[in-house]
Amino acid sequence: MRGTQTINENNHLVIGGVDTTELAKKYGTPLYVYDVADIRKRSLAFKEAFRPYPVAFKVAYASKAFSSVAMVQLAEELGLALDVVSGGELYTALVAGYDPKNIHFHGNNKSEDELLLAIDKKIGAIIVDNFIELQMVKTLAEARNQTVCIMLRMTPGVEAHTHEYIMTGQEDSKFGFDLMNGEVKEAIKYALNAPSLKLTGVHSHIGSQIFEAEGFTHAVKRIVEHMAAWKDELGFEPEILNIGGGFGISYTKKDQPISISAFIGSIVETIMAECSANQLEVPEIWIEPGRSIVGEAGTTLYSVGTHKSIPNIRKYISVDGGMSDNLRPALYQAEYEALLANRASDASEEQVAIAGKCCESGDILIQDIALPTAQAGDILAVFCTGAYGYSMANNYNRLPRPAVVFVEEGQEQLVIKRETYEDLLQYDLAFQTTVK
Ligand SMILES: Cc1ncc(COP(=O)(O)O)c(C=O)c1O
Repeated sequence: MRGTQTINENNHLVIGGVDTTELAKKYGTPLYVYDVADIRKRSLAFKEAFRPYPVAFKVAYASKAFSSVAMVQLAEELGLALDVVSGGELYTALVAGYDPKNIHFHGNNKSEDELLLAIDKKIGAIIVDNFIELQMVKTLAEARNQTVCIMLRMTPGVEAHTHEYIMTGQEDSKFGFDLMNGEVKEAIKYALNAPSLKLTGVHSHIGSQIFEAEGFTHAVKRIVEHMAAWKDELGFEPEILNIGGGFGISYTKKDQPISISAFIGSIVETIMAECSANQLEVPEIWIEPGRSIVGEAGTTLYSVGTHKSIPNIRKYISVDGGMSDNLRPALYQAEYEALLANRASDASEEQVAIAGKCCESGDILIQDIALPTAQAGDILAVFCTGAYGYSMANNYNRLPRPAVVFVEEGQEQLVIKRETYEDLLQYDLAFQTTVK
């Protein structure tokens, strides 16, 4: 059981003090359920992890993991800064009433309209990705007689996923300025010469679902080495060092990331030690967790429908959602755990595959899982769907996107309504034939 999950006297899965089978009845399925207490706990854990150290820091929630008005408002209540990666995410944050000063805007191909929205709303930082954007921001800021705070995204030549990291010379990435080939230094020079740009710091994000601190500490060592050179050669010392997100979570028992405090401890201690060795002031340290704030807090409830048994091969249990509400298994073979929410502690009786309802053979949510014999109408709860679930949801096969409910202390609140068929057609226009 994760977060506040328990099983009640009716053998039903309870999240945030709310019976999930009641949620399924009231709001229908598929349904995303977020355990708000778990989001609070994780946000606090990131902040607490910095407290033992004499450093300034900022924890920004990477809203790409799950962006909605309510989620952004919760992030603000939790004292988290906010990362956005598109005009749509920025607009969501602004409509949610989020303080623009704490918004940071990422992306490798921001449009002029997106940049203008960011500049006009005076957001906290534009994290500039490339020379074309650097020039665009400078021109737009000059035209508005405004000074815009920017940071530079760089690829430090370290890439990490799960417990693997690799040092690469010229990192093959669509994001950022290359640290090792001198591009970052050129970008710093450019920004320092532009009075309309206030260069506050540098940023790197080395990967996702990372289980160990080594990738981060290697990146930090490389970056601080370069910071010493920028200080000597350009007189530039970043006020902020942003080391991105990517902290891993436990989708299944196989996933064993180190703790949040162990990640942050290693990163901060390495930055402090490297800065001291290079006679540099320790910059303000920013991080950008997304998945590790909301991932484990999310559970998707599905209704079981049909099944198909292929003797000696496999039994498929089909549910009423699939790759339309959780693209991750089809996209990168992501693995999940699940149980029957209405028979939560029943013993497993068979190995099955959980199939989605999309017209695609690859729409398998779970390849192999032990479950009690599932019947039509049972409620399947798939865990750990809070990050990149709703945010990657789509209308493939014209399936309406599910509703989202927050639960906490026995209360539930609907935060995103279920789409209707009318919603699906709202932008459709009739065909006008040209045949006379
Ligand atoms: C720049 C940046 N920051 C933060 C994140 C959040 O990563 P995660 O959700 O793995 O913590 C991402 C995700 O790709 C990212 O690209």
